[in-house]
Amino acid sequence: MTQPGSPRTLLIANQKGGVGKSSIVAAVAGMVAAAGRRVLVVDADQQANVSASDLGVDGDGGRGLSMALQFAHALEPIRNVRPNLDVIPGGPALAVVASVAATSGQTGIDLRANLDQTLAQLCEAERYELVLIDSGPGDAPLLDALLGTARYLLVPTRDDDASLSGVELLALRYLRARQSGSTIQLLGVVLFDTNPRATARNREVFEQVNDLLEGSGADPFEAFVRSDRAAAVDLRTRHLTPLELVEAAESDQKSRLQRLRQKGKAGERLWSRDPSGLAHDYQALTREILTRVADAEREHVGGGVG
Ligand SMILES: Nc1ncnc2c1ncn2[C@@H]1O[C@H](COP(=O)(O)OP(=O)(O)OP(=O)(O)O)[C@@H](O)[C@H]1O
Ligand SMILES: [Mg+2]
Repeated sequence: MTQPGSPRTLLIANQKGGVGKSSIVAAVAGMVAAAGRRVLVVDADQQANVSASDLGVDGDGGRGLSMALQFAHALEPIRNVRPNLDVIPGGPALAVVASVAATSGQTGIDLRANLDQTLAQLCEAERYELVLIDSGPGDAPLLDALLGTARYLLVPTRDDDASLSGVELLALRYLRARQSGSTIQLLGVVLFDTNPRATARNREVFEQVNDLLEGSGADPFEAFVRSDRAAAVDLRTRHLTPLELVEAAESDQKSRLQRLRQKGKAGERLWSRDPSGLAHDYQALTREILTRVADAEREHVGGGVG
């Protein structure tokens, strides 16, 4: 049962691929850690996008997490990937989880209980203020274990119909997890890769998401993540967080001017000129997430008293 003071675990999920799950995990983790709060990123995806690409971690291919899920082996994070930011890497070793789940009736292996236990032990020892769990597309058995363990859920989506159907599918899985005893709480849905100027379209999608969430007790997020493909390429290929990219773009600009003055050769340049708008979006999203988590915790405490 979830208690106040138990780890603040936030699962980012949508069974549809390419809707910004990993990008949001990396960016929010980077923001919270840069503000001086201890964060753990759990990369529960075979693709290892958030650990290997976004954060540039040379990991164990998901073996540690896979062993924790199957045998409750203690989780050992890679520490200080950035100041205040630790990572449990993902990777292909997580592929075994699906077959383990399929035979759990015979083996008695309980992925959810193992993850609950090992994550709680790690959080107790390390005192993380926030744990962000990235999940892969599909991979239903692992997703169910994560939905059973995490305390909060954030669902990113693009505004196309396929991504919105992904939200609907996930909403059903979420309700099933709650029916089987999970205390996970939906924080909301966040729009990813949107055009901030398409206000009429965005309002329409906002309403659509609102309808999808009816009865769940959650609202769509006011904050959104704008479309910025140049920045997205730089973030991933250079393993930078959005705040780091803003700094890199500023120094790139300065050195470009210097090279022009010296008539030197143009070096390897960033694609993005000004990623500050995107960084600003992630800042607003991080603030809204932390506010919603704090509100949920207050309600929980209030509910316990009243
Ligand atoms: N602000 C942005 N605007 C446009 N594209 C972006 C933006 N941020 C990231 N992307 C790109 O969108 C794609 C999907 O992002 P991401 O990998 O975060 O999604 P995902 O939901 O984690 O995908 P998967 O389901 O494969 O794990 C990536 O190619 C990424 O580089
Ligand atoms: Mg991903």
